[in-house]
Amino acid sequence: MRCKKQLFLIFILASLIPVRSSAQAWIVPDDQKGKVAPFKFTPVMVKQGEQLYLKNCQSCHGLPGKNNWVRITPPPGDLSLEKAQNQSDGELFYRITNGRIPMPEFRKILSDEERWWLISFLRSFNPRYIQPKPVSQAVFTGKIIQLSLSCDLPSKKVKVMASEALKDSSKIPASGVEVLLFVKRYFGNLQIGDSKSTDKDGIVLFEFPSDLPGDKEGKVEILARVNDPGDQFKSNAVSMKLAIGVPTDKPSLIATKTWWTSRRSAPMWVIMTYSLSVIIVWGFIVYIVYNVLKIRNLNNKPNNQ
Ligand code: HEC
Repeated sequence: MRCKKQLFLIFILASLIPVRSSAQAWIVPDDQKGKVAPFKFTPVMVKQGEQLYLKNCQSCHGLPGKNNWVRITPPPGDLSLEKAQNQSDGELFYRITNGRIPMPEFRKILSDEERWWLISFLRSFNPRYIQPKPVSQAVFTGKIIQLSLSCDLPSKKVKVMASEALKDSSKIPASGVEVLLFVKRYFGNLQIGDSKSTDKDGIVLFEFPSDLPGDKEGKVEILARVNDPGDQFKSNAVSMKLAIGVPTDKPSLIATKTWWTSRRSAPMWVIMTYSLSVIIVWGFIVYIVYNVLKIRNLNNKPNNQ
């Protein structure tokens, strides 16, 4: 009897502890699985990879073959074992590149080359591994387009200029480049008009709508980018803040008392309802625990009738 009550108590307390939801599968996109290194792995690369591993990976994954990875959830695991070694080079590369909490993303920390060296090091623990034929990455041969933005405020005309950067780092106007213009809004970008192609001087002009609301001073942030679905170009997006909109004195979405804001500006009824429910729930729990303890004490009393 007493034992049951204690179990009950444990059950109540345990239900108050949030549990981490069970691990979700870490899926590698199909088009990344077949990716292979752009060069043949050499012993020198394995050595380089080892140095990188000791610096960047050992703290969690331990030393390959030693099964001494850090006991955390999800488990990092020993990368010399089946679970990692049964994956393709592309899968390993994807995981190292993108990481997954708590594993960091190494995309910007290590170069592509260095990430492949790491894989060559990990593969050196797998006697069955045969490296797939290297495929060198396509060198970018398209044009490099640079945009710049300017605006004539009185006429509300936005000028976007596209230039092509040549190999000798000089620039020429880029004609026939499709440009899109946007205004930044809370929820994504609002496109202004249709896309337009640059003329022979690399220039497009957009008429800015005369009725588009801005902030208190009429400021809006405009953004231009190249429309390049076929990935023909390497290009940049440019943006600037301009007092080109209609001054609007609407309070910002998060400045007023709305129920989605933080506590400081939440409406009183939300704070009251929330506090009250917390008090009631906890009161209930305390009440149950108190009664369970009372029953236990009754049981403990010697010779009670
Ligand atoms: C902060 C700790 C941490 C560091 C540092 C770290 N990892 Fe991880 N790694 C993890 C964890 C945790 C997982 C498991 C993630 C999961 O399953 O969601 C993992 C998973 C992996 C996997 C997939 C393993 C499998 O069995 O599917 C690879 C490959 C990997 N890490 C490589 C590396 C490499 C290479 C480095 C160093 C460049 C590195 N990791 C650095 C924590 C770390």
